[in-house]
Amino acid sequence: MGKIIVITGASSGFGKATAELLASKGHTVYGVSRRGGADGAIKQVQGNVRDAAQMRSIVAEIAEREGRIDVLINNAGMGIGGALELATPEEIDLQMGTNFMGCVNMCQAVLPVMRRQGYGKIINLSSIGGVMGLPYQGFYSASKFAIEGFSEALAAEVKVFGISVSMVEPGDFATGFTASRRNSEATLQDRSYGPIFRRSLSLIEKEENGGLKPEVLAKRIAHIVDCRRPAMRYVVANLEQWASVALKRIIPGRWMVNILKDYYKC
Ligand SMILES: NC(=O)c1ccc[n+]([C@@H]2O[C@H](COP(=O)([O-])OP(=O)(O)OC[C@H]3O[C@@H](n4cnc5c(N)ncnc54)[C@H](OP(=O)(O)O)[C@@H]3O)[C@@H](O)[C@H]2O)c1
Repeated sequence: MGKIIVITGASSGFGKATAELLASKGHTVYGVSRRGGADGAIKQVQGNVRDAAQMRSIVAEIAEREGRIDVLINNAGMGIGGALELATPEEIDLQMGTNFMGCVNMCQAVLPVMRRQGYGKIINLSSIGGVMGLPYQGFYSASKFAIEGFSEALAAEVKVFGISVSMVEPGDFATGFTASRRNSEATLQDRSYGPIFRRSLSLIEKEENGGLKPEVLAKRIAHIVDCRRPAMRYVVANLEQWASVALKRIIPGRWMVNILKDYYKC
């Protein structure tokens, strides 16, 4: 039977590819994003995940119309590049508010529906930046580390209600993410950080633009949607990035800092 699926950030990148694939498999897919989009195979709803009240009313409307929500995929996100020291309160709020609070808002909106029905599946988009602190993407990493801790705790709290929580940790992919990144003007203009940031940033952008196609990730998410007992974490990355995640979990922290510092040329 087709599932009722809500996915945030379905107007671009992973969200769009995943929503299209799931719809093609016969599921009913609602996409939530600020741009929305024409209603085709995906039922597009306009909304900002930062707005908790708006997310509650969108979810209530979908639950009322469909009678249930089987799967929530928290995918909406963006990145801010720059030195941690120079980030403004607005930049930090935008980063944490979109990536972390956006995920929290959707979970809090959907959980009462899933608890009532006695089952459900939540899939949260983390990143390999949620496993290791990426230089010059520090608040992005912080937002994904927050998702990791939140998701792990949530999984333990809601298992008793028949709800599973999984995380997807992608490496570099070619999506709209790179063009949408907000780069800190203060860092770019800074005499000490500026030149290092530019060097790191051009490497980050090159890796992302040459990254895997979003359809690769969409297939993995579709597998999680279909499988009976999903795992807690799925690393989806090229071999080098996949190995770096495995390494991070066993080597001393100081070594990892040196590896990241050398890799990002900072
Ligand atoms: N690309 C990568 O290399 C990579 C790697 C690891 C993890 N990720 C994660 O994957 C997720 C998807 O990113 P992507 O690579 O597919 O980037 P993308 O192509 O830029 O897509 C981001 C999506 O998030 C939506 N979004 C952003 N802010 C929103 C808000 N406030 N409210 C509602 N929707 C919002 C955007 O839609 P609107 O602009 O229409 O709102 C868009 O649909 C993100 O969580 C990202 O952190 C990406």
